[in-house]
Amino acid sequence: MYRARLNGPDDFDGWRDAARALTLAGIAPADIVWQDGEGAGDLFAADEPLPVASEAAFSVPRAFVELAETAILHRDPERFALLYALLSRLRDRPASLEDRADPLVRRVESLAKAVRRDMHKMRAFVRFRELADAQGPRFVAWFEPDHHIVRANAGFFVRRFASMRWSILTPELSIHWDGDALTEGPGATRRDAPGDDPVEDIWKGYYAAIFNPARLKVGAMLSEMPRKYWRNLPEAALIPELVAGAQTREAAMIATPPKPAARRGNAATAWSALREEAMGCTRCPLYRDTTQTVFGEGPVDAPLMFIGEQPGDQEDLAGRPFVGPAGQLFDRALEEAGIDRRRAYITNAVKHFKHERRGKRRIHQTPETPEIQACRWWLTQELELVRPRIIVALGATAGRALLGKAVTISRVRGAPLALEGGAQGWITVHPSYLLRVPEETRKAEERKRFVEELREIGERVKALV
Ligand code: URA
Repeated sequence: MYRARLNGPDDFDGWRDAARALTLAGIAPADIVWQDGEGAGDLFAADEPLPVASEAAFSVPRAFVELAETAILHRDPERFALLYALLSRLRDRPASLEDRADPLVRRVESLAKAVRRDMHKMRAFVRFRELADAQGPRFVAWFEPDHHIVRANAGFFVRRFASMRWSILTPELSIHWDGDALTEGPGATRRDAPGDDPVEDIWKGYYAAIFNPARLKVGAMLSEMPRKYWRNLPEAALIPELVAGAQTREAAMIATPPKPAARRGNAATAWSALREEAMGCTRCPLYRDTTQTVFGEGPVDAPLMFIGEQPGDQEDLAGRPFVGPAGQLFDRALEEAGIDRRRAYITNAVKHFKHERRGKRRIHQTPETPEIQACRWWLTQELELVRPRIIVALGATAGRALLGKAVTISRVRGAPLALEGGAQGWITVHPSYLLRVPEETRKAEERKRFVEELREIGERVKALV
């Protein structure tokens, strides 16, 4: 028996070094006891010295490394052994990771999935309470993760709250950021974290503003925001009341068309909080190679919303939608159609610039369904807050984001669609399509058609407000 000792429950580097040496020495998975920390481990395991890693080349697919880095954070005590078994298999059959029906691959993937979900929950449900000490404000949050994710998630909070001093306390580990450096401390209890404070009002205002009684799905809500987290969420105190009043509010909503001005104050605060949150978005990998999230812009009570595809190179640098070549064409078309851009809310289906680097240039790439899907989280909330009467999707990506399914523009173009919640939807071409039409006469025709469509939309908005 070999005993592989790791420095902690999330010690991926330790696991990787031991696993590499053991695999190269041909040690069978059943002959290894994995021990995280100083516990007694397996009482029957005699300590054989671990083989020393040789220089022999041994590479595994990048996808395995990413999977293992995540799955190792799971609380399942078997995770180290499962990953080792998978690694040993990959050495002989590198393609076996692709076999999604394989029970071992599926088991490891389900561990990774649970970890990703837990990491997401921590990002979404950590709520800081403000304290003050001699150096000024300090923010403290209490969180109970299901898995060993705190260290792995720390970078997100550092990036997101870089200029604040904060601590996140959890039962196993505490992390502290002083504006310069991240330090770790021992685990804590809920009593070590402060209770209510005024920051809660912002969350409550935000939640009440985005809560749409017509969309109430209690089951889905509970799976997205399990009761376990409610104690830490100031806005959760509103849930029973909002749910109880949902039917009455829904009936009232149907009877009375929305009055944007009345919601303005709340919605503006909620929109700022939402935008702030989106600035730290890591819901899909696109954020990694961009300058910033390009969030929507415009009045929060705009009757008209335009949805584009994704920011381009110039939008990524400027942090604003539709400012590059397609944006300039769009601006001119709006002007000709008599629509004031400043009175519309303009956003994108995907809020990070997807591109590929070629030399110094960044070449646009069309976002894929998973990226559109991940980013719908933000679009849905923008729609809930702004509640435009007319929504225009520019291009197929925006159409997919708006309707939740693929659309063929030529089939749906030219007539309004009735959308859930009562708004009117229009799907048309993207302005960059007009830039690409090769032949000049056709280009002029297409552009004319686009302007006419915008003009009709503008007239309908005027008639509705
Ligand atoms: N294209 C889009 O779809 N959106 C932008 O913001 C810019 C170009």
